[in-house]
Amino acid sequence: MTITYFITGTNRGIGFEFAKQLSEDPNNNVIATTRSFAKATALKDLNRSNLHIVEYDVASPLETMKQDLLPLEKYAPDGVDVVIHNAAVCKNTIKPILQVNEAELNEHYAVNATGSVKVYQAIFPYWSKKFNPETAKKFIFISSAGGWLTNFFPIPTSHYGSSKAALNHIVRHIAFDHKSSDLDHIQKSIVFAVHPGVVETDLADPYIAVITERNYQVPIITSEESAFSVIKIIQKLKEDDDDSFITYEGEKGTW
Ligand SMILES: NC(=O)c1ccc[n+]([C@@H]2O[C@H](COP(=O)([O-])OP(=O)(O)OC[C@H]3O[C@@H](n4cnc5c(N)ncnc54)[C@H](OP(=O)(O)O)[C@@H]3O)[C@@H](O)[C@H]2O)c1
Repeated sequence: MTITYFITGTNRGIGFEFAKQLSEDPNNNVIATTRSFAKATALKDLNRSNLHIVEYDVASPLETMKQDLLPLEKYAPDGVDVVIHNAAVCKNTIKPILQVNEAELNEHYAVNATGSVKVYQAIFPYWSKKFNPETAKKFIFISSAGGWLTNFFPIPTSHYGSSKAALNHIVRHIAFDHKSSDLDHIQKSIVFAVHPGVVETDLADPYIAVITERNYQVPIITSEESAFSVIKIIQKLKEDDDDSFITYEGEKGTW
């Protein structure tokens, strides 16, 4: 039976690799979102019949986001099994909090934190629609070690890191809410946050410069490697992985 994936932010970076690698398997039905069809050349060039591209901006009002998902009635008639919410923004964050301005804070919170709540709310009717005997329902939020509180990552992540810390709390709250769901498959669903590694993408360029300059011993990986590792984790998830933070290396850690 087909497994249907819904992935946000797939026109480039790690999100593109999720869409590419998952749609290589013809048993997967992949719905991949982008802010603009025009920017989704690489996705379109894959030209796969099991890959459906939907325009979706997580900074839009919730009602617009719900409207944007109407094509899922056609692309995912039995609902969505696995959500990978990957889209995020990270701009000009290598600086002390003292220098962050309100517009930067608002943008990062709007996309990375509030946007994640709206993604969950908008996709929920499709994700909760129907139990698929092939897989548990899974909801993956791509977070970041930059949002850890207990294991504070010693690198300046200012407004980006704090927006991911807010996301981590949102993930835990969603997992908590599901425990009292009326739907058995939602009670048993697996919700988790993942750190995809330090990955060579546009987003991480400034961080990689800092890591290199300070000679931190942190592996730097490609988008292909990151998506490959996270997909393996997603496929092996078990019920007790619900409500956890996992790194791309498969280590369960503190938040
Ligand atoms: N790269 C790393 O080292 C690293 C480390 C830790 C965590 N992460 C996380 O991994 C995820 C992917 O990051 P990446 O490195 O692949 O970043 P990236 O190359 O900058 O890609 C970000 C993606 O998010 C999309 N996006 C941004 N704002 C959006 C919005 N308002 N609505 C919808 N989509 C939006 C972008 O679309 P546009 O092209 O339209 O801007 C793009 O597709 C993010 O959640 C990031 O926080 C990355």
